[in-house]
Amino acid sequence: MRILSVVGTRPNFMKVAPIMKALSRRSAAFQHVLVHTGQHYDQRMSSAFFHDLAMPRPDFDLEVGSGSHAEQTAAVMTRIAPVLEQVSPDLVIVVGDVNSTLAGALTAKKLNLRVAHVEAGLRSFDMTMPEEINRLCVDAIADDLFTTDRFANENLVREGVAASRIHFVGNVMIDSLMAHVEAARKAAFHTAFGLTPGQYGTLTLHRPSNVESPQKLEEILRAILSGLPDLPIIFPVHPRTRARIGGFGLNKLFSDSPAKPGIFLTDPLGYIEFLSLNSQAGLILTDSGGLQEEATILGLPCITLRENTERPITIEEGTNHLAGTTHEGIVAAIKTVRTAAPTTPRKPEKWDGQAAERIVDVISAFSVSTV
Ligand code: UD1
Repeated sequence: MRILSVVGTRPNFMKVAPIMKALSRRSAAFQHVLVHTGQHYDQRMSSAFFHDLAMPRPDFDLEVGSGSHAEQTAAVMTRIAPVLEQVSPDLVIVVGDVNSTLAGALTAKKLNLRVAHVEAGLRSFDMTMPEEINRLCVDAIADDLFTTDRFANENLVREGVAASRIHFVGNVMIDSLMAHVEAARKAAFHTAFGLTPGQYGTLTLHRPSNVESPQKLEEILRAILSGLPDLPIIFPVHPRTRARIGGFGLNKLFSDSPAKPGIFLTDPLGYIEFLSLNSQAGLILTDSGGLQEEATILGLPCITLRENTERPITIEEGTNHLAGTTHEGIVAAIKTVRTAAPTTPRKPEKWDGQAAERIVDVISAFSVSTV
């Protein structure tokens, strides 16, 4: 069976890596082709992850780069179509919710190829989020929907998806975390910043709704500074956010020493470096999706700087607190988290490091039934 997987952005790599490993363990049955759309292209946003996750170089690099949503989606579609025709895969795997996910799925379906969506069924119910539009469109057309949690299953059933298309397999991002967390802890990357385990936080911010408005970006940063006057925060900065901070004249808000309380900016970090920092942090502040899940498995308090989350399981069973994006909301969430008695978070069902194996089990059954 020939399988083609599509990756494009930083959070795609750690989802496809365990699937590729699980497929290669059963290599006699599968031939795998990896396509990188090039949506993310900086060394620190892309090749650093291939290195850390020991992923082979992509078989095809479409080099689409940045652009408007329309330009980026159209460029992936235009460039991936001839690759799909040439490879003629039995199955196309897309992961997550980025523009490359949508473009890959749409093009493959129009070529009448079988499409599987990994991380299907997540819903924020917020149609101003480009990712929500991508998720809805991909789930509507994909043949096989691999889900991470019971909320995703419920969302798909409510939308009328036939049970035979839904495969509850768990979370491949957690497969990657579990495979690398021990090495990451040993790397003790916090020492590079002169920090002590548990005595610092990490921060990521890249959502357009948080970083494209000077007022909103400043409000979020000032709230973190006033809520955490005693905790150094390491902030690896997405290129988009870096450009906005400079453009809005907000550099004055940042500390010049990582070990001093305040927010300290770094370049984007590799997978192992950032997992190393997070695995020994005291607190994570983020507007990313995947970090909410990683924090739950690391058992670390996570403050999500958004009005909603497509990952409610991380609140119900994990360590996540939805703070919103106002000054009061963020300060209140920090206070709640820092004064709460420690509890043992539950681990969501099937977040056990074996999700990719379950995916390959399901796919193996397709190959038997299609031969
Ligand atoms: C994309 C995804 C988002 C995901 C995020 C992870 C969509 C709609 N959004 O957002 O869901 O959470 O990736 O990081 O697909 N840039 C660089 N170098 C790079 C990549 C981007 O400088 O390697 C800059 C460019 O100025 C670009 C901007 O970042 O215009 C935004 O990149 P883009 O891929 O469009 O969206 P992200 O914000 O990264």
